[in-house]
Amino acid sequence: MKIIIINGPNLNLLGKRETNIYGNLSFQEFFENLKKNNANVELEYFQSNVEGELIDKLQEVGFSYNGVILNAAAYTHTSIGIADAVAGITTPVIEVHISNTYSRESFRHVSYLAPNAKGVIAGFGLQSYELALQSFL
Ligand code: DQA
Repeated sequence: MKIIIINGPNLNLLGKRETNIYGNLSFQEFFENLKKNNANVELEYFQSNVEGELIDKLQEVGFSYNGVILNAAAYTHTSIGIADAVAGITTPVIEVHISNTYSRESFRHVSYLAPNAKGVIAGFGLQSYELALQSFL
């Protein structure tokens, strides 16, 4: 079982960025723990602040991996390019968000990715990623 977590812009700052919304833990710390607790899964992590790099990664993994857990961050609400990549690959994609985007500004209520995602999980903090992983297992 090969699963990749792909994080978009500014998620490299987790633990430092708007900690009231996103918490105090760095993604690296969280990811190490997640890997330990799911040793039976080949779990990878990729983060980029660059839209095209996220598209390249989706294309690279999207015909062979068993699942993609995608937090495209702000690009969720803006990127037709990432939406087209999600639509174009065969690996199922679960859209995740740390915060409950529906309880925030109205521009965060729109997701270009959701129509082609297998499902959407938002608002459970970093546990959103764990719930997405569970759903693939
Ligand atoms: C986010 C929500 C987005 O609206 C925001 O731009 C992010 C993070 C989340 O995980 O809650 O950067 O995707």
